[in-house]
Amino acid sequence: MNQPKLVLAIETSCDETSVAVVRGGTEVLANVVSSQIDLHAGFGGVVPEVASRAHLELFEAVTAEAMNEAGVTGGDIDAVAATCGPGLIGALLIGVSAAKALALAWGVPYVGVNHMEGHLFATFLEEPNLGLPLVVLLVSGGHTMIVEVTELGRYRYLGATIDDAAGEAFDKVARYLGLGYPGGPVIDRLARSGNPEAIRFPRAMMADGYDFSFSGLKTAVVNYVRRNPDAADVDVAASFQEAVVDVLVTKTIRAARSVGAVSVCLGGGVAANSQLRARFAAAAEESGLTPLVPDRAFCTDNAAMIGAAANWRLHHDGPTGWDGGADPSLTLPVTDR
Ligand code: KG4
Ligand code: ZN
Repeated sequence: MNQPKLVLAIETSCDETSVAVVRGGTEVLANVVSSQIDLHAGFGGVVPEVASRAHLELFEAVTAEAMNEAGVTGGDIDAVAATCGPGLIGALLIGVSAAKALALAWGVPYVGVNHMEGHLFATFLEEPNLGLPLVVLLVSGGHTMIVEVTELGRYRYLGATIDDAAGEAFDKVARYLGLGYPGGPVIDRLARSGNPEAIRFPRAMMADGYDFSFSGLKTAVVNYVRRNPDAADVDVAASFQEAVVDVLVTKTIRAARSVGAVSVCLGGGVAANSQLRARFAAAAEESGLTPLVPDRAFCTDNAAMIGAAANWRLHHDGPTGWDGGADPSLTLPVTDR
């Protein structure tokens, strides 16, 4: 699908400063991710201004490391890409400005990339010849959506959360339980020693289309823990995770079957969840669908996925104009709903 262009890609939409070098949209020569988690953990969540400053401070070293690891110099790069939304505006602007400056200095095109399209393209890093049509479940800290891909770049929303994103639910429940930030990895770890059947938490809108709602589940966990202060954290974590995974997997497989998809993919930070990965793959295979679950490193925020999407966008749309800005609420380009 692509000429083997060498793209230097930058991801700074939230709290990871990441720079990657990707050839031809699929070959990752370097993917350096510097997490700011320690900086934000004390605040119980990402502080936008702290994130922007940290991106600025980390950017040069992360870029140098990525180029060094890839064994390339500025003269080898064919295009520079950056996430231009959705995300935190100050954080996005650091990446976009840096990408344009490097592109201008090296005399190559700049490509602005939609972060969610990046999460989707993470699957193509692993399997470039994925069968279409496919249905992808994108689950991150800010988004939860089921999208049908009939051909690359043509998206149709099948469903989305009507309140909290799945990752947000993990983060809020973890914060309530005093487990720290981000909540997903710690709940994932605790859940391994807990009983997922211990508490029957609600599965909202289970029989009802492809939209999701997680805010009631979060309240149910809070209420349960208030009424049962001696409940084991591991059982609460496992039962909460089971409820989230149940709805995500059931709805995605149902949506995929209803549109006649041949493959189903997972993307976004929550796709790093062990239980979701296992249940998703098993349910897909049971339904005769090819599952694609990217490596964990390509699920949580990283620049390699931005490089993959940028390569395709560059061929499809050409470079982004130098006046291309950053949009904190950028949505996927959809064909219809
Ligand atoms: O995609 P991502 O890295 O950043 C956004 O675009 O939001 O997703 C971050 C989210 C956080 O809410 C984090 O708690 C969640 O992904 N997450 C997980 C796991 N690892 C990260 N959730 C569940 N289980 C995990 N292992
Ligand atoms: Zn993300």
